[in-house]
Amino acid sequence: MKDLEWKDEYLLGIPEIDLQHKRIFDCFVSIAEEGLSKQDRWIADSSIVQLLGLIQGHFALEESLMRIIGYPELERHIEEHRQFNAELHELAQMSLRTKRNVSREVIKVFQKWQREHIMKSDRHYADYFSGSTRKSVGKKPGAK
Ligand SMILES: [Fe+2]
Ligand SMILES: [Fe+2]
Repeated sequence: MKDLEWKDEYLLGIPEIDLQHKRIFDCFVSIAEEGLSKQDRWIADSSIVQLLGLIQGHFALEESLMRIIGYPELERHIEEHRQFNAELHELAQMSLRTKRNVSREVIKVFQKWQREHIMKSDRHYADYFSGSTRKSVGKKPGAK
């Protein structure tokens, strides 16, 4: 699907997080590719339900990781997660309740999330994480 394309530049260098982002991306693609058949409808519905679960687990993992490393912008990041979650639930409701095809909205929501969240906010905490990891790895135990 040309509107939704996965690129290596989306990788943050934290394997579990990257894997989750890719799984979330794949879900968005399945929803966005919905056609007109009953089978398509079924796939889109189950992808939406799967997506809500993946997102919940993903945000919980990121937030606990940020807490562990003492990330200073945790609250702002959590707020972005909250807003995205609300947008996603609205879309899910639209799709599951009214059985409307939400492909176009899904593409827009994902592109925005990728551009404004993964590429900026997630990258920011990932850089902070690798910086703090490097510092503690470079430090000898007991050294001041
Ligand atoms: Fe995030
Ligand atoms: Fe993320």
